[in-house]
Amino acid sequence: MSNKKWIIFGATSFIAVSFMRTILKKGDVVCLVARDAAELANVAADIHIRTQASVMTRSCDLMKVDDAQEFINAIAHELGGLDSVFFATGELGDQTQARTDIEWHNKIIVSNFNGICQFLHPIANRFEQQRNGCIIVLSSVAGDRGRQSNYVYGAAKAAMSAYLQGLRNRLDRVGVQVLTVKLGYTDTRMIYGKTNSKLTASPQFVAQAIAAAMDNGSDVIYVPRFWQLIMLIICSIPERIFKKLSL
Ligand SMILES: NC(=O)c1ccc[n+]([C@@H]2O[C@H](COP(=O)([O-])OP(=O)(O)OC[C@H]3O[C@@H](n4cnc5c(N)ncnc54)[C@H](OP(=O)(O)O)[C@@H]3O)[C@@H](O)[C@H]2O)c1
Repeated sequence: MSNKKWIIFGATSFIAVSFMRTILKKGDVVCLVARDAAELANVAADIHIRTQASVMTRSCDLMKVDDAQEFINAIAHELGGLDSVFFATGELGDQTQARTDIEWHNKIIVSNFNGICQFLHPIANRFEQQRNGCIIVLSSVAGDRGRQSNYVYGAAKAAMSAYLQGLRNRLDRVGVQVLTVKLGYTDTRMIYGKTNSKLTASPQFVAQAIAAAMDNGSDVIYVPRFWQLIMLIICSIPERIFKKLSL
């Protein structure tokens, strides 16, 4: 489909930037959303130069938007419609701090789940009514099984994946694609200095896998694919053994 109208949430994420570079073309119109206005302006210039898409920006904290419906309606009006959304919004947070600091604890849950659902609500209704649309959300393999080292983040991602599963079951019949991306380690700001895992993928690799999944109508993907096998093994460990592991 040409001349698509996108909103990209978390547009300053390296994954979002790589995805936009991969899929946007001349004639497409896109609104980039994140908090950092200066970085948004840099990304907007880069995307416009590389893809020739028309780019606008909206700097805001998703957790401070009062009326998500009005927010979506206003952007859709400026774009001249809306047919695709991409959510790279999220916060890894500090799980150790979250054990004692309820504000951190709640921030991790809200930025990875509630903060996104408030926008999916009006977007789903809009797409259902127009009988087309594409919703892509970056979830995580961390949501497949709770671990002591990141269960607050993991629980928010698990909730996100379940929410998307329900949304897909509702919207598939009206021709709306809902794509859940279960991501493993990816080389971005979020995990910089926190892991030196050999399993870390590049944002470019991830973006291309998501673009291919979008094009072939996929529902749920693990990126890179080997994470599906890793998580299958992790999920098959009996709970009485799993609870004693230091993971
Ligand atoms: N990197 C990984 O290894 C990995 C693995 C699994 C899943 N993921 C998921 O992939 C997605 C992208 O993450 P990333 O690794 O690219 O990290 P990132 O660079 O930190 O990207 C997160 C994006 O969300 C935006 N954001 C965060 N809180 C926000 C808020 N309250 N309001 C508005 N925008 C907000 C950030 O922009 P501002 O700071 O400017 O607002 C940024 O654009 C996240 O959902 C993450 O959980 C990442």
